[in-house]
Amino acid sequence: MKNYIVRNFIESDYQDVIDLWKQTDLGKPERGDNLETILKTIKFGGFLLVMYDVETSVLIGTSWLTNDGRRLYLHHFGIDPAYQGKGYSKPLVEESLKIAKQKKMQIKLEVHRNNKNAIGLYKKYGFGYLGDYDVYIIREINA
Ligand SMILES: CC(C)(COP(=O)(O)OP(=O)(O)OC[C@H]1O[C@@H](n2cnc3c(N)ncnc32)[C@H](O)[C@@H]1OP(=O)(O)O)[C@@H](O)C(=O)NCCC(=O)NCCS
Repeated sequence: MKNYIVRNFIESDYQDVIDLWKQTDLGKPERGDNLETILKTIKFGGFLLVMYDVETSVLIGTSWLTNDGRRLYLHHFGIDPAYQGKGYSKPLVEESLKIAKQKKMQIKLEVHRNNKNAIGLYKKYGFGYLGDYDVYIIREINA
């Protein structure tokens, strides 16, 4: 593994973050994953952790924790495809769990049942399957 840093998001990271989310199929500004939303989640007590390659300044990964006051939710956990399979996700999960421990808050996530890599990772770090819940959403609230 190369030298990396994990730190809190700053506004100038935004384009890197959007590019990484596109590459890893995690989100799009059109889905509400835009700068305004990111800043709002941080204001509400959330965190967007970014992991950078110190040498090349390439964004290696992101972990977005939102806080609804009751629990933390882990979103958009992703590693740049060029860096996948090399262990970079582990320190990023560890930093994310450190925040949950510091805040003494439960942490919850959604993952597609076919996403074996992510499920393997989350289970390794203590996430337990919640049961046969389905997930619902209204995307077009004003339609
Ligand atoms: C899921 C993801 C973050 C894993 O990151 P990664 O850097 O490739 O993973 P690492 O090399 O750090 O491996 C960490 C653990 O992930 C799991 N994992 C990673 N690749 C795996 C594979 N090919 N098969 C099974 N498990 C795998 C393992 O548990 C592994 O631990 P181990 O090496 O001790 O067995 C990465 O594949 C990714 O960004 N995927 C696209 C975005 C995504 O789906 N995110 C999750 C949204 S819920």
